[in-house]
Amino acid sequence: MRLRRQMNPRGRVWASKSAAIGRLAILVACFTAVSASAQTTMRQYQFSSDSSGSGIALAEVPMPSAGPNEVLVRVRAVSLNRRDVSMLRRNYGRGGNTDGQIPLSDGAGEVIAVGANVTRFSVGDRVAGIFFERWIDGNRTAEGLASARGGSPGGMLTEYVASHEDALVAIPDHLSYEEGATLPCAGVTAWVSLFNYDPLQQDEFVLLEGTGGVSVFGLLFAEAAGARPIITSSSNEKLERARELGAYGTANYRENPDWQREVREITGDAGVDHVLEVGGRDTLPKALEASAFDSHIAIIGGLSGFASDVPVGTLMGLGATVTGIYVGSRADFEAMNAFITEHQIRPVIDRVFDFEEAPAAFDLMENGSFFGKIVIRI
Ligand SMILES: NC(=O)c1ccc[n+]([C@@H]2O[C@H](COP(=O)([O-])OP(=O)(O)OC[C@H]3O[C@@H](n4cnc5c(N)ncnc54)[C@H](OP(=O)(O)O)[C@@H]3O)[C@@H](O)[C@H]2O)c1
Repeated sequence: MRLRRQMNPRGRVWASKSAAIGRLAILVACFTAVSASAQTTMRQYQFSSDSSGSGIALAEVPMPSAGPNEVLVRVRAVSLNRRDVSMLRRNYGRGGNTDGQIPLSDGAGEVIAVGANVTRFSVGDRVAGIFFERWIDGNRTAEGLASARGGSPGGMLTEYVASHEDALVAIPDHLSYEEGATLPCAGVTAWVSLFNYDPLQQDEFVLLEGTGGVSVFGLLFAEAAGARPIITSSSNEKLERARELGAYGTANYRENPDWQREVREITGDAGVDHVLEVGGRDTLPKALEASAFDSHIAIIGGLSGFASDVPVGTLMGLGATVTGIYVGSRADFEAMNAFITEHQIRPVIDRVFDFEEAPAAFDLMENGSFFGKIVIRI
């Protein structure tokens, strides 16, 4: 039956149509490359304390070009993470003046030129930047951690970026640029938390806190792995959405301040096996109350502030393993992409803004009324 369908004339027409579309895509990429090489300036946003309160301003800057080991990328989409808002408000890490730096760690686009020594990519390839430009594989190093995009190395909220070829990965074929742009920080963080240290097994319970970027990726990955994700939110509407995406259980942390008991009940009092701990000070003690013996707690964020009183006795009693997570390496990104491709996972995007609306994207990220990821199309 299947063989006959492949051999029918419509199939051949489609095959020749796809070849034509492929040739057209290469022609468009070449045309973009030629027009980009004629272009001398481009637009990019920069952090700016003079920008009428929005914290970012549009600037016209010289076009970058690809050095011998670099790839010139026409950025097509970027996504926001909580860290980007902290940088905007100058309270990320040690804080300090970020004026003139380019915001956002996460972006995806099309390769439009390659340097003479480049071997990993060709013109027309669809790529995303890795979060730490110099954390390629293995354990983290000080040098790797100092290379986060959207900090002192340039960010992705720009029309073009010249990147070392090692600091890029191909995005899965079934994803759009908008979807690919959501992966580098939130996606890799959720992936590493679930699979690197105490790999998630089928039927295990996973606790996800809130319905932001990291947690919704955790939900998608846990569901695809046949595990049982339980997610919390301040909104019943968002919890309904989470159930549609495969949440096994839900709890409203605003309506029920003792949500950890509700979570435990959902597990039949066994407790959860994995926690993606993004809440910090207010959630960590409760997440531990909801946890099973020998569980794994991935310490990721501090949405309610960073934890100060760690309930050491509870940790000892549980025999829980605690791992501090800081996104991950390029190898982690590539392993995640293979999983995303295998399970045909599509990131959840709440809203896509145009480039000119970038300040509004930051506003939405700050006010919290979104589910999953916020994207800007460039
Ligand atoms: N260590 C790392 O590698 C790493 C990587 C990425 C992110 N992070 C950190 O992880 C945290 C989450 O990042 P994100 O980008 O996923 O954030 P996000 O997309 O901004 O998530 C925000 C959502 O989290 C929920 N939330 C807010 N305050 C909460 C609280 N007190 N308790 C429980 N849920 C709360 C809300 O969901 P509802 O509206 O559903 O209530 C809110 O919409 C941030 O602190 C971020 O800095 C760390």
